[in-house]
This record gives sequence, structure tokens and C-alpha cells, in this order.
Amino acid sequence: MITLALSKGRIFDDTLPLLRAAGIEVLDDPEKSRKLILDTNQPGVRVLIVRASDVPTYVENGGADLGITGKDTLIEHGGQGLYQPLDLQIAKCRISVAVRNDFDYERAVKQGSRLRVATKYVAIAREFFAAKGVHVDLIKLYGSMELAPLTGLADAIVDLVSTGNTLRANHLVEVERIMDISSRLVVNQAALKLKQAPIRAMIDAFAAAVAAQAKA
Ligand code: PRP
Repeated sequence: MITLALSKGRIFDDTLPLLRAAGIEVLDDPEKSRKLILDTNQPGVRVLIVRASDVPTYVENGGADLGITGKDTLIEHGGQGLYQPLDLQIAKCRISVAVRNDFDYERAVKQGSRLRVATKYVAIAREFFAAKGVHVDLIKLYGSMELAPLTGLADAIVDLVSTGNTLRANHLVEVERIMDISSRLVVNQAALKLKQAPIRAMIDAFAAAVAAQAKA
């Protein structure tokens, strides 16, 4: 049995064409079903629906053989012990710093004032501001980061930006781009040894599908 850990939403939707290219059809829709283990058209392949931030944990500890997770999640998690053979070029976005459109970010940074930064991405934010020599107080949040500058909880946020619609709707502006993000395939190293043929076949099929999508 090969077990693949996925999260609901964009990663799941963007993974379906890659699975299809590997001859795998998922038989349930996680948006409609409450099932957390989804069967596929291949009796030897199943899909687990887990929280995005739990994908590396499942794969690292052998709860799943493979998983698909954002580079953001991997950096925050650490990703130690995970084989990361492929950038799938899906669920592309970026991690950026954003502030209220009336906040003078340049000035705050130049003056060396302590910046209060709210984020789910504490490791990424800490490293980014440390490299710039900016003093920050990091405030860990689990969602709706956009509220932090609006309520006075923080001066800035570090968050994922895709279309920019969420920032615009909340009168925030992107002031620095920290890094580009896409989803990666991660593999449990022991599983790769024990189930080498089917896992290699899946990696190769995904790689071919990614290459084909890049050309299209
Ligand atoms: C992310 C992010 C922003 C939004 C950005 O949230 O936290 O809120 O997407 O997308 P946009 O630039 O296209 O508006 P997501 O929907 O992934 O949910 P989350 O709050 O659980 O992270």
C-alpha cells in the first residue's frame, strides 16, 4: 500500500492532474465527504487528508509514504529526514511583508525601531528580519493575520500572498517579498527503500507531468 498525505484546498486540487498523469484517480471529494482516508482507482494507493502543517509530520514519521506540502510549511517544520525529490510547481504564491497602507515601513526600518510582526511563519520571519538587522517582536498567529495591523496588534504581517486580493480588501500593502513558494513532494526515506519501485514510478510520473505542464 502506498499512502499519500495531502491537504484540502488548493494543494489537493492542483495535485489531481499530477495523480491523473500517474494513472491515479481519487474516488472521493474531500470537500463533500467527511472521510479522511480516500480510496483511489488503484487498490494499492490511498490518500490521507491532513492539515497542511501536519503533512511533514505524517511523512517523517511514516504515517504516510509521500506527501505534498508548501515550501513555507517545510521551512517552518524543518523538513529534517524528509527526501524532497521534486518541486511540483503548484500552489504558487509568495511570502511577503505587508503593512497598513498608512504605515511608513521604510522609515520604521531605517530608524531601527522595533517592529511588531504578526505571523504564522515565525521561523521565516525571524530569519528574514535578522538578516536585515531589523529588531522584531514576533507575534505568533494561526490565521487571519491581516487583522493584526488593523487592530493595532502588530505593525506588519508576514503572510502568503497569491492574488493580493486579501491584502487589498483589508487596506494593506505588500512592502517586501521574502520568497517565492510552491509545493514540494516529500517522501519518507524508509518507505523509499522498502517500496522503491512503486514510489519511484510515482515520482517519475509526477516529474514528467510537471515538465509537461511547464511546456504547455
Ligand atoms: C492565504 C493567506 C492569505 C490569502 C492570500 O490564506 O493567509 O490570507 O491566502 O491569498 P490572496 O493573495 O489570493 O488573497 P489561505 O486561504 O491559504 O488560508 P489560511 O488563512 O488558513 O492560511
